[in-house]
Amino acid sequence: MGKCDILLRTMKTITMKIRPDAGTFDEKEEEILRRAGKIIKEGGLVAFPTETVYGLGGDALNRASARKIYEAKGRPSDNPLIVHICRFEDIFRIVPEVPAAAGRLAEAFWPGPLTMILPKADSVPYETTGGLDTVAVRLPSHPAARKLIAYSGGYVAAPSANLSGRPSPTEAEYVIQDMDGRIDMILDGGKVGIGLESTIVDLTVVPPQILRPGHVTQEMLGGVLGEIDTDVTILSDGGGQAPKAPGMKYRHYAPKGEMAIVEGPREQVAAYINGQVEKDRLRGERTGVICTEESLDGYRADVVKCLGRREDQESIGRNLYSMLRQMDDEGVTRIYSESFADRGFGQAIMNRLLKAAGHRVIRVQ
Ligand code: TXA
Ligand code: MG
Repeated sequence: MGKCDILLRTMKTITMKIRPDAGTFDEKEEEILRRAGKIIKEGGLVAFPTETVYGLGGDALNRASARKIYEAKGRPSDNPLIVHICRFEDIFRIVPEVPAAAGRLAEAFWPGPLTMILPKADSVPYETTGGLDTVAVRLPSHPAARKLIAYSGGYVAAPSANLSGRPSPTEAEYVIQDMDGRIDMILDGGKVGIGLESTIVDLTVVPPQILRPGHVTQEMLGGVLGEIDTDVTILSDGGGQAPKAPGMKYRHYAPKGEMAIVEGPREQVAAYINGQVEKDRLRGERTGVICTEESLDGYRADVVKCLGRREDQESIGRNLYSMLRQMDDEGVTRIYSESFADRGFGQAIMNRLLKAAGHRVIRVQ
């Protein structure tokens, strides 16, 4: 822990438990959510579960709250925040003209893991949008998130609740690791369902463009919108081109160890990785492998982590960030990961893996 870090961890952070799947909340939970909402209304910060990852919430219409969020995350302030709402009609206060396409997407995918980029109204401070004239809007499906947003006044700016550069937190324990002493409160709703951040679609361009892939897939968006584009940097390093979502240009989701993705037939991949592991060991490296259930027994690295069955994309997505964090916790300095199909939700999985690996991909035959 650096000196700066100690100085910044000066607040008393309280953690409160909320049942993850409660259709209705009991009186005690209502009280906790009311108290959390009051903190946000008064300019404080509360981390909370959503269906994708944990968010770090502050009042989206209060410029001082936005500044506090950047400070707590150690995040550059040109990286805009997503504004979370809990009812569709609340969008009209922050977006002056809602295009028909946004209505159709909301109808199909809200509440849920989809964020839309739209022109912003004057009510949204530039601190929240990182100086942009557009605003990112999302209506999450997680019951505790929606209740919290309602108690907070309706507009909660929430980036993922990790320190900048760390993988997004999928459990309250990871939020505590990153945010204890930096924020007012953490709502512990257990492990999240999806595990990767929401799909971001930019509706200010024609055709609309996917800036970040997520659980709402390109195929699903295409089904509603007809034509849909994707930012070229999603699955390639873009040949030096900057991603359109400012946050996507940072080396995000990154574990501390150096990581590579190994692609090819299963046996050759295992043979290659085991060969590398031997060499790394001689150099004093601590090695880790991220793999699937099918190949789990074939690896000889120091730490071997399984994401689930290869065809179970839901499980792979849900476990990925936790595995990257566990590699850090185990002091792994060299990480090798298997590669995955990049169709459907797999596009989001490969996008995050490629970013974590800094686009280092090794192809074996
Ligand atoms: O699933 C999620 O979206 C989670 C949960 C907490 O809701 N939130 C999240 O926020 O992932 P964050 O801040 O970690 O990622 C937001 C991304 C960044 O890459 C940012 O640059 C982009 O959205 N973004 C936000 N506003 C934008 C805008 N107006 N134009 C383009 N990109 C924008
Ligand atoms: Mg993030």
